[in-house]
Amino acid sequence: MDPNVSVQNPEKKEQSSVCVGREDDIKKSGRMTAVVHDREVVIFYHKGEYHAMDIRCYHSGGPLHLGEIEDFDGRSCIVCPWHKYKITLATGEGLYQSINPKDPSAKPKWCSKGLKQRIHTVTVDNGNIYVTLSKETFKCDSDFYATGDFKVIQSS
Ligand code: FES
Repeated sequence: MDPNVSVQNPEKKEQSSVCVGREDDIKKSGRMTAVVHDREVVIFYHKGEYHAMDIRCYHSGGPLHLGEIEDFDGRSCIVCPWHKYKITLATGEGLYQSINPKDPSAKPKWCSKGLKQRIHTVTVDNGNIYVTLSKETFKCDSDFYATGDFKVIQSS
């Protein structure tokens, strides 16, 4: 039995870490998917760091595990394959480009919409990768697609 889960307090189960795979495997593939306490997540290995987030895009539920990783304004982002929204791997912020309409000669600037995609914690122990779901209580847009009828993605 998982020592982090108390029989008296089953809610603690959501807070326990879950082993999702081996470090060697994700270092080869760069990404993996997993179900952690009934929540589907994608784990990326990029530039020597691990990042985990809800697998379905906050915009309309696109499959982020099928997106490309690109840098925008020096920040690594997963680009959703459906409508090309850019989500920072480190923080889950949605990035967009804006321009000052009163100054059309100005260059477009990268801006943040704030935290849109829920980020989870990745730890490595003895070659195993563990994911701990976010304990943040704020409402995140990606929660909509991580729960209820939308939560199962067909990843084949
Ligand atoms: Fe991801 Fe629209 S579903 S950009």
